[in-house]
Amino acid sequence: MDLREELPGDSEHVRDIHLRAFGDHGPVVADLVDTLRDTITPTGGLSLVAELDGRTVGHVMFTRSLLDAPRRLVEVQVLSPLAVVPEHQRHGVGSALVRYGLTALAERAVPLVFLEGDPGYYSRFGFARGDGQGFRKPSLRIPDGAFQVIGLPAYEPWMTGTLVYAEPFWRHDAVGLRDPGAQPA
Ligand SMILES: CC(C)(COP(=O)(O)OP(=O)(O)OC[C@H]1O[C@@H](n2cnc3c(N)ncnc32)[C@H](O)[C@@H]1OP(=O)(O)O)[C@@H](O)C(=O)NCCC(=O)NCCS
Repeated sequence: MDLREELPGDSEHVRDIHLRAFGDHGPVVADLVDTLRDTITPTGGLSLVAELDGRTVGHVMFTRSLLDAPRRLVEVQVLSPLAVVPEHQRHGVGSALVRYGLTALAERAVPLVFLEGDPGYYSRFGFARGDGQGFRKPSLRIPDGAFQVIGLPAYEPWMTGTLVYAEPFWRHDAVGLRDPGAQPA
């Protein structure tokens, strides 16, 4: 398996990975990726693909958000989304992408990486619940256990506070879980 940064010619393959991996939710995720990609700069954010036999089979994105800490706003990264095509799941592709990304972000002195996800999966990388560590989730619609964070070497104990998602997550309504039964006010 080869892991590398996404290149301009990869975007359709990346879209296809999310459409296939996320099912009904795929179009929202694929559109979110297309918007988040524009926020990535050479030193801020990361879009990684995994290739097997020349085929793009997995993708992960890390993008900039803010932590509203008492001392000042802190630039942090959010891992979202992560997907592997169904026929290559459970063979270590997702884990390799996450570990590769965390290593690269640690080298860039990123202090914290947040995500929304299943603790049963992400705990293996060192992610843990954010609410017990001085962090507040950006929406009440995120289940407490799903709001997770990992501190990298640049993390300092004063870095606590509320995670403020970058605007694309709100624009695409890709935060937390919506209650499909709720009536509009
Ligand atoms: C979640 C996903 C990215 C994992 O990638 P992967 O390459 O299949 O995972 P890996 O092979 O690295 O890891 C496999 C392990 O993760 C576990 N796992 C996979 N998906 C899981 C999930 N949703 N919840 C908990 N554990 C999960 C497997 O049981 C396996 O555990 P084991 O090693 O103890 O047997 C992939 O299954 C996927 O694309 N799913 C659909 C999209 C999605 O839900 N993305 C995550 C959004 S937060």
